[in-house]
Amino acid sequence: MSKLKYQTLTGMHDILPDDFIYFNRVLRAVESVARYYGFSRIETPVLEFAEVFAKGTGAGTDIVEKEMYTFRTKGGDLVALRPEYTPVIMRSYLEHGMHNLPQPVKLWYQGPCFRHERPQAGRYRQFNQFGFEVLGEQKASVDGQIIQMSYGVMKELGFKNITIEVNSIGDSECRPYFKKILTSYFKSRRSALCPDCQRRLKENPLRILDCKEEKCQRVKAGAPQIIDHLCENCHKHFKNVLEFLDELELPYSLNPYLVRGLDYYTKTVFEIVENSEDGKTQGTLMGGGRYDGLSKILGGRDVPACGVAGGMERIMNVLKTKGILRAEKPESKKAQEQKQEDAKIFLAQLGEMAKRKSMKLFEEFRAAKIPIAESFSKDSLKAQLRSADKMGAKWVLIFGQKEALEDFITLRDMETGAQKEIKLDKVVEEMREKLNSIKK
Ligand code: HAM
Repeated sequence: MSKLKYQTLTGMHDILPDDFIYFNRVLRAVESVARYYGFSRIETPVLEFAEVFAKGTGAGTDIVEKEMYTFRTKGGDLVALRPEYTPVIMRSYLEHGMHNLPQPVKLWYQGPCFRHERPQAGRYRQFNQFGFEVLGEQKASVDGQIIQMSYGVMKELGFKNITIEVNSIGDSECRPYFKKILTSYFKSRRSALCPDCQRRLKENPLRILDCKEEKCQRVKAGAPQIIDHLCENCHKHFKNVLEFLDELELPYSLNPYLVRGLDYYTKTVFEIVENSEDGKTQGTLMGGGRYDGLSKILGGRDVPACGVAGGMERIMNVLKTKGILRAEKPESKKAQEQKQEDAKIFLAQLGEMAKRKSMKLFEEFRAAKIPIAESFSKDSLKAQLRSADKMGAKWVLIFGQKEALEDFITLRDMETGAQKEIKLDKVVEEMREKLNSIKK
């Protein structure tokens, strides 16, 4: 009898008890950010109809074309091990009629994904992803919030040296024309491109911008940039997203070559990378963007959406090798849940600038571990006050145009109706004192 090989399949790995210290730490950071921002957890089967990815992720992508574990079941169905979650989350939203719920629907997940990739540092054939998806909202504030949450997870884990790379890749109105001019630029330099990019030139010239081959780097340095060719709608959206990032003081850089290797993206795309000092990098730790067209590609209604996913193993590897794991701050899940339910403060905003500033304030409250509720997707003050009333908030912090311009906030006591103004940099402290006083 031949001896059994004691080894995992190539590109696959065990998560050993010692690794779980890191695994759980990442998961807790994700969970706490998700909870704070009002995301609900979802899990879906590991197996799906292969078509979900062929259509959703895109038939011409590396993932679907080269990396998917696809097979036929005994019943004759063509299925695939999920290589990513995003099209599956949209499938689930459509299947369960989640458009009937109050919009947007905010979901988070964590579980294994499978890609038959060439194994290398930080690249596995089975790996764990976590992610946040917001479905049913087109506003730029959602893109800002998703990026802020991604950064929040990294901060929670003690990462210091990270950058957010952002770009906009337009939509069906402006991208076709950009593809045309990009193709003609690369065509005239075809021989200077690597063989893969010569092939991409026919199928998807945008992916050439993403190529890491030195040869192609030189050619793309002179290539036209999509930001200069966005339609008015995409241009405005991107400008709004950047204004949010500025307001939130997030360390981002514009990367005109960032296109991401999945077909469903529209407008904003971004990645979170670790700036490694020793040159050893795990690659991208998190990546995401807006995907307003995905629902229709899957045959559904119009569902604008935006999200991000991160690689558990890649993040764990950095935590391990760089020793940046922070000392544990014990806080039971139950206590956290209780806190969220107990949110006594509601943050209401009016107008674009106030919305941007209130997102920053929201993050400051999160860092101070003070639960507050918000309704960023609602624009009318009346609707927001109604939400505040419904959830039994004791105080509402009102952030309007005037407040945003002059850096103060109006505090309204919901029981007495009394209002007072507080300087913006004193709000967190003052609310902490108020909460302490009602505890006594
Ligand atoms: P992605 O960039 O393909 O995007 O993957 C997201 C993250 O998963 C990567 O940044 C990386 O950390 C991790 N990852 C990907 N492939 C591997 C691998 N072979 N081994 C280890 N880690 C890996 C997506 O999957 C999109 N669904 C993200 C998204 C969500 N866009 C909108 N919503």
